[in-house]
Amino acid sequence: MGWTIAQIPDLSGSRALVTGGSSGLGQQVALGLVARGASVVLAGRDENRLAGSVAGIRAAVPAADLRVLRLDLADLSQVRRAADEVLNSYGTIDLLFANAGVMATPERTTADGFELQIGTNHLGHFAFCCLVLPTLLATPHGARVVVTSSFAHRMARGIDLRSLTADRDFRPYRRWGSYAESKLANLLFMLELQRRSMAAGLALTSVGAHPGYAATNLQQAGPAMDGATGGSRAMSALNRLVAQSAEHGAWPLLMAGTQPGLPGGAYVGPSGPFELRGRPRLVGMCAAAGDPVLASQLWEASEQATGVRFP
Ligand SMILES: NC(=O)c1ccc[n+]([C@@H]2O[C@H](COP(=O)([O-])OP(=O)(O)OC[C@H]3O[C@@H](n4cnc5c(N)ncnc54)[C@H](OP(=O)(O)O)[C@@H]3O)[C@@H](O)[C@H]2O)c1
Repeated sequence: MGWTIAQIPDLSGSRALVTGGSSGLGQQVALGLVARGASVVLAGRDENRLAGSVAGIRAAVPAADLRVLRLDLADLSQVRRAADEVLNSYGTIDLLFANAGVMATPERTTADGFELQIGTNHLGHFAFCCLVLPTLLATPHGARVVVTSSFAHRMARGIDLRSLTADRDFRPYRRWGSYAESKLANLLFMLELQRRSMAAGLALTSVGAHPGYAATNLQQAGPAMDGATGGSRAMSALNRLVAQSAEHGAWPLLMAGTQPGLPGGAYVGPSGPFELRGRPRLVGMCAAAGDPVLASQLWEASEQATGVRFP
């Protein structure tokens, strides 16, 4: 029992933009959407991987209406360029999936000097979402933003706002700790976007989702960055034993994006033990994620870090 993709309504006439569309959950979300008639813009940083993703989706849905957008979330100048392309090329976007991400990477920085995971997973999406807001608000139906978080947000010890400065010397780097913090930031952003949109009377609903544990490139990409083949092999083995498919991992995101009447601030995840797998349903989040003071502080620090303001 529970939600399935058979419940996705007819999406003809609507347009979605999916970050991380070149791989894993993003590709599966796009597939689920075009299968119900939506037009989808796949955003990603690599043209070849985007083209491969498009080919994979078209193999299943030959008539799929797909476009691609070059977007590197780890470079704010590229985020601005991509947002300009959206503003100039698309009249409306009804659904934005802020989904791309990296996990447990070695200590690296974005082009602007931010720690890579908070910089990509949170700051890049924060800037992109705020910059494309006019296109989201142009839809007559009311737009929806779906932010992909993770069960790992619960492992965060809070958000150290100094992580949002380009000064990384204040504490030792913990690759899993930084990932958890970036995923907590995703939920704080999602809820604060909902609060600020409501306060401003904007026709925008902000919701969150997590896939449980799904076999994608995510588990290999981080270890592969510093050639840690042992870590990568261990993650592959774990994927085979525990993970659900990328297709099923995408279901909570698809429910969050398409279930009619889902309230702002809702968070969807798998219903199975430890929310690792299973049919999607509404799930809870840790207390820190629901802290409005922390969310507001994070928002202001993100505006300062990126130079992008909520219009
Ligand atoms: N898989 C899981 O079990 C799991 C669990 C919890 C949460 N999540 C979340 O799910 C989301 C999607 O991950 P996934 O599992 O589908 O992994 P994936 O297959 O590795 O996909 C990640 C996507 O993010 C893109 N990306 C990475 N860095 C980027 C950047 N700088 N700019 C633009 N795009 C970038 C990747 O693009 P490239 O193709 O160019 O690398 C790829 O399309 C992430 O936010 C992740 O934290 C996944």
